[in-house]
Amino acid sequence: MNTPTTPRHVAIIMDGNGRWAAKRRLPRAMGHREGGEAVRRAVKACEVLGIECLTLYAFSSENWKRGEEEVGDLMKLMRRFIEANLDDMVAQGVKLKLIGDHTAFEPDIVAKLDHALERTRGGTRTLAVALNYGSQQEIARAAAKAAAAAGEVTVESIEANLDTADLPPLDLLIRTSGEVRLSNFLLWQAAYAEMVFMDVLWPDFEEKHLREALDEFARRERRYGGR
Ligand code: FPP
Repeated sequence: MNTPTTPRHVAIIMDGNGRWAAKRRLPRAMGHREGGEAVRRAVKACEVLGIECLTLYAFSSENWKRGEEEVGDLMKLMRRFIEANLDDMVAQGVKLKLIGDHTAFEPDIVAKLDHALERTRGGTRTLAVALNYGSQQEIARAAAKAAAAAGEVTVESIEANLDTADLPPLDLLIRTSGEVRLSNFLLWQAAYAEMVFMDVLWPDFEEKHLREALDEFARRERRYGGR
């Protein structure tokens, strides 16, 4: 199903794993694990709904500040997630893309990610995962590259050097868990994006929630600063 009002590029700030676990008196790691299941569902839902590109905020450059145990749990989950889902991604025609600097992760994770990038290269729809990502850092890097390459820093030259340069323009940004902030995610790219903040905790996110966000998107009239 791809209607004229279907966004090409949807991004999600997947928030609420910890609260989901706390509500059930489970360790936070269980919330993240269920969050991984919600990622699988969201990727599938994008296929059903005809969304060309999904960008997920999986690990921010600020997430290193979480305790050693939680960072370790997230790393373990990342390893398992790639192992368990790579074949399905290839079969579903998903092309993996990374934004941020994943080379800061442990070498075996870097190798797994690089392998996944290579194996999914022929995919026709994109799953972009933000890893060790911060939007202010991305913009600063892009501006520095633009200055070094052309000497001139313009909106266009910064844009051409963002990690997202090869992705379609961002249409819709969703944040789950009821928090209303961007947390250093896609600040530049969100300039004209519609934003939808939803009360659902990320591990509970299902196709119906994505449909709700798309319905809201379709109801809004986008003016891009014009009238
Ligand atoms: C926010 O919940 C979620 C994260 C910091 C991590 C997101 C990671 C996943 C969904 C795991 C799997 C993803 C991939 C791509 C392997 P929170 O811990 O901030 O929740 P809280 O605000 O309720 O504490």
